[in-house]
Amino acid sequence: MVSHFVRKKISRHFTRQNEIVFDNHIPSLELIEEKFRDIRELGIYLHIPFCNRICPYCPYNKEVFSKETSRKYKDAVMKEIDSYVPILANKPVTSFYIGGGTPTTMIGNGLVEIINYIYKRFNMNCFVHLESHPNHLTPPNLDAIEAMGVKYLSVGVEALQDRHLKYIERPYTVAEVKKNLERALARNFECINIDYLFDLPGQTVAEIEMAGRDMVNMGIHQAATYPLFRFPYTRLGRESKNNGNAIATMFRRRKFLKILEDIFYDSGFERSSVWAFTKKGTNKYCSVTVPLYLGLGVSGGSYLKDIFYINTFSVAEYIKAIEKEKPPIALSVDLSEEMQMAGWLYWRIYETRFRKSDFEERFKVSFDRKYGKQFNILTQIGFLKNGSDQIRLSDNGTFWIHAFEDFFSIDYINKLWGTSGFEPWPEKVVL
Ligand SMILES: C[S@@+](CC[C@H](N)C(=O)[O-])C[C@H]1O[C@@H](n2cnc3c(N)ncnc32)[C@H](O)[C@@H]1O
Ligand code: SF4
Repeated sequence: MVSHFVRKKISRHFTRQNEIVFDNHIPSLELIEEKFRDIRELGIYLHIPFCNRICPYCPYNKEVFSKETSRKYKDAVMKEIDSYVPILANKPVTSFYIGGGTPTTMIGNGLVEIINYIYKRFNMNCFVHLESHPNHLTPPNLDAIEAMGVKYLSVGVEALQDRHLKYIERPYTVAEVKKNLERALARNFECINIDYLFDLPGQTVAEIEMAGRDMVNMGIHQAATYPLFRFPYTRLGRESKNNGNAIATMFRRRKFLKILEDIFYDSGFERSSVWAFTKKGTNKYCSVTVPLYLGLGVSGGSYLKDIFYINTFSVAEYIKAIEKEKPPIALSVDLSEEMQMAGWLYWRIYETRFRKSDFEERFKVSFDRKYGKQFNILTQIGFLKNGSDQIRLSDNGTFWIHAFEDFFSIDYINKLWGTSGFEPWPEKVVL
């Protein structure tokens, strides 16, 4: 109750709105075309919602893979691509991310066709960033992944001790994951990222240290290390009736992350986002890197300056809508200038550094006039360095400012994704 009140107060302070309302007011293709008119470049996100099995902690939109559904899904995504061809009008696409679910379930079941089609129909100026699963790194799959133009690959390793893999129900052992990663690392990828979950029940400092050293010794280019979040609508979230003391949890996570920071910094990595460390000299693996993007596929979200809209989360309904030549968009929200600014700031903080001049170019407002007071306080308590143009978060600032952001995002994700996962066409979702 208290946290709800505090969340509302702070959200109102930054967005100048009492609440953020997503509703089923669907933008027409003409309106979307108008929004695109003065966009210079954009990113594309493609969602592949299939997994071989479902993990109990996972908040993402996914269902168990079926050959038949994935074939129909491929046809639907290709039609959605067609609908955007005249709207994009050859604008350069400078970032392309395929996430899921587990996109590599569709190797041999339509993924290659979708990617080739995207490169044929849009003006693609970038390589593919692709999410995958440790069990999918077989020699034939790696051949296919490389042939698709993937240069940036992420692998959901999640844990490097068998007892933790067992707790989160991942279907492999540490020995197997290491063998498969070695195979991938011998290929020609620019960057291989591994996802690693920490703050698992009973996890010790020694285990975190061992996992950190293992990651470095394996020769990966990047590690994204997330604390395990418990989303109430997941099985793990429902089963964890008492999540423990929130403050104690934050301090414990800070301690664990500090151990990983030290190991990665000592081994020639630098921080590339709140949770990620990348080997110096490597281009980082990350989701869409440009501020404006188009989301394709089920639950794909599109952000076009002053509007954000999101496709239905139901695979069956997505396919049905596209077959009937209806837009698969389920919810949209018009973003006021204040909301766009708050959103911009949220993502730049996630990247841990940004330039005030970029903000000023985008919004034509002085950054210091808009946020000077708040950022001066953060500078004084050592959370960031506030230069004449560049703002850079310290390690401590990165953790605590993000912990603060999580206070909002987990609640927002829970409401938006939680509702959309149960209702294919919700009337509205209020954040
Ligand atoms: C779409 S999955 C990655 C690809 C693939 N599906 C897999 O699981 O190997 C994205 C990543 O989100 C992270 N993730 C999933 N559930 C999470 C949770 N509850 N808390 C924190 N991170 C989570 C995991 O690290 C996971 O690898
Ligand atoms: S964590 Fe990955 S494999 Fe597990 S359900 Fe989520 S998307 Fe699928």
